[in-house]
Amino acid sequence: MTAPLARTLTIAGSDSGGGAGIQADLKTMQELGAYGMSVLTALTAQDTVGVHGIHEVPPAFVRAQLDAVALDIGVDAAKTGMLASAGIIAEVADGVRRHGITNLVVDPVAASKHGDPLLRPDAVDALRTELLPLALLATPNLGEVALLTGVQVTHPRDLRRAAAAVKSLGPAWVLIKGGHLPGNAAATDLLYDGDQALEITSERLETRDTHGTGDTLASAITVALAQGHDMPAAVWSGKEFVTGAIRHGLRLGKGIGPLDHAWRRRTGPAP
Ligand SMILES: Nc1ncnc2c1ncn2[C@@H]1O[C@H](COP(=O)(O)OP(=O)(O)OP(=O)(O)O)[C@@H](O)[C@H]1O
Ligand SMILES: [Mg+2]
Repeated sequence: MTAPLARTLTIAGSDSGGGAGIQADLKTMQELGAYGMSVLTALTAQDTVGVHGIHEVPPAFVRAQLDAVALDIGVDAAKTGMLASAGIIAEVADGVRRHGITNLVVDPVAASKHGDPLLRPDAVDALRTELLPLALLATPNLGEVALLTGVQVTHPRDLRRAAAAVKSLGPAWVLIKGGHLPGNAAATDLLYDGDQALEITSERLETRDTHGTGDTLASAITVALAQGHDMPAAVWSGKEFVTGAIRHGLRLGKGIGPLDHAWRRRTGPAP
């Protein structure tokens, strides 16, 4: 008997460059064998160099998209990315509750890889108080940890304190991403459930083409959760997928290039 197709949803912004946002999410879901759906929160005019414009979707239309896919198709697991405004966050939190979406990965996106803001400053509080308490997993990078909790991570030993501070905002699990930890030979993330802390580590790859790493990781974890894996297994499988996609990063554009989401098909099965 074949397993039912995992139904996965991304609630995020569009990256016209195709490397991050819903494009990265849907490519990841497709590559990992899930069925991908999307609720768009904003359009960005974006490339490998930066974000050149943002056009937000009205909150009521975010609600309409979420109701459409949740009521008709159903959602086994969802992830959020760029949410842009407090009004959109309120609709997403309300929809997640109404539709009983419990497999929820909240990637609290605040800025693009280039540092361009993707979240209004007055929306940080809504993220903190309305959405993070609903998350099964929160996946902040170090900048987002500082924004949400005030904790500055400058050394791997700070990761545990950062995880505890994010955990206190309500998610069941926290994954602190160490991608931005300078001078570290490993790319180490810390998974924490309020009790145990688990280091999720790979080698740090020498590349500038890391556009969309966080979105890709969160989407791969979402697929694994939808397929029924427990959290540590889901995070390890996400880490393995994103590391391969970074290793095979694409030298496209004049700035920070995208990952190769199709790396497993192009390189063949692992030996
Ligand atoms: N150079 C690298 N080599 C290996 N792994 C990396 C590298 N850079 C980031 N990672 C890994 O990629 C994943 C995403 O982490 P990162 O901190 O880059 O997220 P992010 O800042 O949210 O990304 P984005 O800006 O694309 O949203 C983590 O597992 C991190 O350890
Ligand atoms: Mg990110």
